[in-house]
Amino acid sequence: MKFHIMTLFPEMIINAMQVSITGRAIKAGHIQVDAVNIRDYAGNKHNRVDDYPYGGGAGMVMQAEPVYRCFQDIKKHRISVEDPKVIYLSPQGRVFSQDAAKEYAAEEELVFLCGHYEGIDERVLEEIVTDYVSIGDYVLTGGELPALVMMDAISRLVPGVLNNDISAQTESFSGSLLEYPQYTRPEEWMGKKVPQVLLSGNHKLLAEWYRQQSVIRTAQRRPDLLEKAELTEQEQDLVKSMEGARRDTSVNGRS
Ligand code: ADE
Repeated sequence: MKFHIMTLFPEMIINAMQVSITGRAIKAGHIQVDAVNIRDYAGNKHNRVDDYPYGGGAGMVMQAEPVYRCFQDIKKHRISVEDPKVIYLSPQGRVFSQDAAKEYAAEEELVFLCGHYEGIDERVLEEIVTDYVSIGDYVLTGGELPALVMMDAISRLVPGVLNNDISAQTESFSGSLLEYPQYTRPEEWMGKKVPQVLLSGNHKLLAEWYRQQSVIRTAQRRPDLLEKAELTEQEQDLVKSMEGARRDTSVNGRS
């Protein structure tokens, strides 16, 4: 997977992608990150890329031409696919999800366009953008963090990026349920013991416990997700028996 990011802050993209799992994936050649500075395509001696909005109003708007030139350069010299998806990060877009991450992970290359100031001249968006994507119903100062969020979620679905153990685990984990709780050493901490089943080494019991904990956790914290989940009759009974129980959204269970 090769990501091309049109941005005014390429170092923000590079620095964030170079650490942890994505950093390792870059070194191993599973993903490539091509951050392109829109300012390099300003075409004027002050390297200006923004101007006042027609009609007035607060803030500045990024001009169409530098963005267009940047994209043409990517198409001509930096990308091999013919008609790449060009994702514009905006609170006005379709809300990003795990399903969308899966769809994008199937592409060979993706282009992201990160806006700043009050946005980008509509005409260049009409010309080059294929997908408008939001990462949630709140407003950020620019598109870089949303692009990073998307690249992180997409990268972990690219074959080879996660080690085999984790990817196998994720595959067996049904998409619309939350993950079960995790524990590590010591066996007892602050008087709290690790659930006995995790020490049993019995794979069948463990698989049943993981699944049950996922169902319980989803019912407690994100009951809305259960609509999409495929539950056995027994699991549906379990959920029903929990209905009416206090919804516990706190991280430590104390709410
Ligand atoms: N740009 C500003 N806010 C955003 C959001 N919530 N999602 C995507 N892009 C954005």
